[in-house]
Amino acid sequence: MPRDILVVEDLHKYFGGIRAVDGVSLRIPERGIVGLIGPNGSGKSTLFNTIAGRYKPDRGRVIFDGVDITGWKPHRIYKLGLVRTFQNPRLWLSLTVFENVLTSGRDQRGESPLRAPLHRLWAGQEMEYARKALDWVRFVQLGRVAASLSSDISGGQMKLTELARALMSRAKMLLLDEPAAGVNPTLAHQIFQNIARLREEYGLTFFIIEHRLEILFDYVDYVYVMHRGRVIAEGKPEEVAENPVVIDVYLGG
Ligand SMILES: Nc1ncnc2c1ncn2[C@@H]1O[C@H](COP(=O)(O)OP(=O)(O)OP(=O)(O)O)[C@@H](O)[C@H]1O
Ligand SMILES: [Mg+2]
Repeated sequence: MPRDILVVEDLHKYFGGIRAVDGVSLRIPERGIVGLIGPNGSGKSTLFNTIAGRYKPDRGRVIFDGVDITGWKPHRIYKLGLVRTFQNPRLWLSLTVFENVLTSGRDQRGESPLRAPLHRLWAGQEMEYARKALDWVRFVQLGRVAASLSSDISGGQMKLTELARALMSRAKMLLLDEPAAGVNPTLAHQIFQNIARLREEYGLTFFIIEHRLEILFDYVDYVYVMHRGRVIAEGKPEEVAENPVVIDVYLGG
């Protein structure tokens, strides 16, 4: 049995009277590809935001890679290797695809005002980052648009750019918020095939919010279902798909 890389215990996040996350507990095994589904407004993005440090929980604990990260600031969590992408990609539209990926390289020495003048100190590292950024751009099959402005690529390619950027950050685990939203079926499958390859080749772990169940269910090992801030079901995709409680919330809204 693989160990659990992420453990969430009785997590709560309220907005005034809205119990957006209302006592969620779950475990994600290392190298897992786990889905998070549920109707609109069920608390999925808020759960990600609370795990990743954007919101402080009102109650509960988050343990990542054996470390209690409850209440930590987002950049500290990111540094530990837990990296999220957004429901709407946040790219620098005036930069190219390649530059967007390059900007997330960690600890770039050239950016320090003291070291910037000493070009020879960081030139080697700069080359290494550039090479790595190009590798990730190619890995997600964006090589042909690497030099295009991010404003000129399709929605699906923006999602892939965000994925490449998350990979550049040396993540151990990625929280992906609707990676296939608004993307044509071919590209959507390509995004999920990349995810499967990343698990195989790099041992990464994924927790993925996705409304397109017909695509998601082909790739995940396990699924959690949220409704009104709570986990109402969990299991293998085929179990969840036949669970009457799940069918009910999807049909009943
Ligand atoms: N920053 C906020 N301030 C106040 N209420 C919020 C905030 N963010 C989310 N909510 C509310 O919390 C609830 C859960 O929203 P959330 O965005 O987490 O749902 P979701 O499951 O991601 O939905 P979707 O599938 O539409 O993306 C909703 O009632 C929403 O209106
Ligand atoms: Mg959401």
